Amino acid sequence: MPDEIPDTSSGPEAAESPLIGSLRAAVAAAPRDVPLRLHLAELLLDAGHGDAAVVEAAFALSHAPGNAQARALMARAMGEPAPAAPVEQPAAPVQQGGRFDWAAAEQEVGDVVPPRFIARPDAKEAPLAADGSGDAGDASAYDVDAPDAPGSVRLADVGGMQEVKDRLEAAFLTPMRNPELSRLYGKSLRGGLLLYGPPGCGKTFIARAIAGELGANFISVSISDVLDMWVGNSERNMHEVFETARRQAPCVVFLDELDALGAKRSRTQHNGMRNTVNQLLTELDGVGHVNDGVFVLAATNVPWDVDIALRRPGRLDRTLLVLPPDGPARDAILRYHLRDRPIESVDVGRLVKATDGFSGADLAHVCESAAESALLDSARTGTVRMINTKDLLGAAKAIRPSTEPWFAAARNVAMFANEGGTYDELLAYLKKARKL
Ligand SMILES: Nc1ncnc2c1ncn2[C@@H]1O[C@H](COP(=O)(O)OP(=O)(O)O)[C@@H](O)[C@H]1O
Ligand SMILES: [Mg+2]
Repeated sequence: MPDEIPDTSSGPEAAESPLIGSLRAAVAAAPRDVPLRLHLAELLLDAGHGDAAVVEAAFALSHAPGNAQARALMARAMGEPAPAAPVEQPAAPVQQGGRFDWAAAEQEVGDVVPPRFIARPDAKEAPLAADGSGDAGDASAYDVDAPDAPGSVRLADVGGMQEVKDRLEAAFLTPMRNPELSRLYGKSLRGGLLLYGPPGCGKTFIARAIAGELGANFISVSISDVLDMWVGNSERNMHEVFETARRQAPCVVFLDELDALGAKRSRTQHNGMRNTVNQLLTELDGVGHVNDGVFVLAATNVPWDVDIALRRPGRLDRTLLVLPPDGPARDAILRYHLRDRPIESVDVGRLVKATDGFSGADLAHVCESAAESALLDSARTGTVRMINTKDLLGAAKAIRPSTEPWFAAARNVAMFANEGGTYDELLAYLKKARKL
């Protein structure tokens, strides 16, 4: 359907090379061929046609949001340094090709200090970034401005969870960074997305990361706080939040623990709360174009308790399941919680394998109780010792993943109350994980 495809025939500026011309013809013949688009984008970039390259890269991204090459090209086209090359470390004592040589440094001090983590020459996983975050670089590939408030989290700090990141990239980040392109593709700049999943698995954390990416274009509203504070005033304040968002559009409004507010209205005794829900519905619906550029992101552990009216089309009509952290995410979370603890030769890989199904909170608990047992040991024997793999594996064995009760409840809902396919994603996961 070439009519949906942006007409990217050459602009009025400089003439294009014959090679670009023939690639354009090829793209016209196979408009959905992503690699072909990327090739064209690259040539356009090299030839100095940045704007035309943006269009091609955006098209590729809209079809393959996770495509690293497309992101890199987009970053280049938007005037960012290409993220594909490893991030240069600041001047460090031992340099090798511009990067700090950790292996050499560790060897130097090796006979004095035991390594913190065991070396795994076979390990395929990407090394952690120097700041301990996983997944270095890629996710923040084409940030234009960098809101670097202290303590702020970025998507790159969220370990693993690539699918979730890709969906968020497609739902919010790309359209916000490229409003003109979104218009070009007829993608309306409004709408809502509900994150749901077991507790402690990173919904709030991910939202904070999006805030880190968007800076002033992100308004976070914690409902449980807000209800206490807003007694009698809640409707007006809810309206204020959305008015602020509209003034700042494009803007994301984040409603954490939505169930606290959106609890089924029949169950909601508190009159003030009911009014707040109604006000939220009014704000979500807006009239005309008032909500253009206002996205709503919400999170809940109990989507089945969220007022169904909030989920109607045009409101929070899309859902995104946030599952317990996958391998790379657990790796990042474990390293994060071990960062300031006295550890010795810890085999994170083994620990990652032993903690499938654990939430982020469970993993924090594992590190906590491993520290406890090493401390007890040291007190008992009178010799201080480091936390080791055995402590951690023992701690992991001693606790059951706290996500189990959630999956028990979720299974019933997915099987018997999956109206309109709301929980299809959950159902597919339960089947795949043999939890049905
Ligand atoms: N993918 C992840 N990468 C890094 N840390 C994570 C990740 N997922 C969860 N965590 C950690 O787990 C903690 C609990 O997550 P949180 O966002 O509060 O869960 P939820 O809101 O889903 O209940 C976070 O503070 C964070 O430290
Ligand atoms: Mg939360």
